[in-house]
Amino acid sequence: MKSNHPDVAEILISANALHKRVEALGEEITAAYAGQEPLLLAVLKGSVVFMADLMRQISVPHAIDFMAVSSYGAATESSGVVRILKDLDEPIEGKDVLIVEDIIDSGHTLAYLRGLLLARNPASLRIVTLLSKPSRREVDVPVDWVGFEIPDKFVIGYGLDFDEYYRDLPYIGVLKEHVYGD
Ligand code: IMP
Ligand code: MG
Repeated sequence: MKSNHPDVAEILISANALHKRVEALGEEITAAYAGQEPLLLAVLKGSVVFMADLMRQISVPHAIDFMAVSSYGAATESSGVVRILKDLDEPIEGKDVLIVEDIIDSGHTLAYLRGLLLARNPASLRIVTLLSKPSRREVDVPVDWVGFEIPDKFVIGYGLDFDEYYRDLPYIGVLKEHVYGD
């Protein structure tokens, strides 16, 4: 699908397709947490749009919280070690935690985060990601729900950015190469 935006090569997932998939994920997650009160944990900032839509499709009572992390830069990129910029407001011990992610690429960020959260002894820890690039995976992370598997292309919109731009686009689009090729 073509976009009118000059920096978008193609629309990969339309706003309508996103809405339908998020609705279906919400139903599955609601069923999985029947009788429980999960804590939805979104990683800032890419996941905020997905979180906002997903939480309104989950009909068990739930709380939300946010974490902000930054990777330690190129030298330690392969280790996936991340620095916590903003931690959770409350302890998660004994809670049923659902990590809400925007995209899994190499898997390093999520693998590290998962280890860090497991050390805090939640009752359970599951993961939902809107997008996954399976061909880019370097470490295995057990993901419970995937919205869409996508090819190895740099995508923007629906919360995802390039250099903090494009988060507001209502669809998932492929960024034109001229934008990041200096
Ligand atoms: P990884 O799984 O540790 O390699 O890193 C995943 C993170 O890289 C995501 O949370 C995004 O912030 C970022 N990322 C990876 N691929 C893309 C993309 O195509 N568009 C925008 N951000 C991306
Ligand atoms: Mg992210």
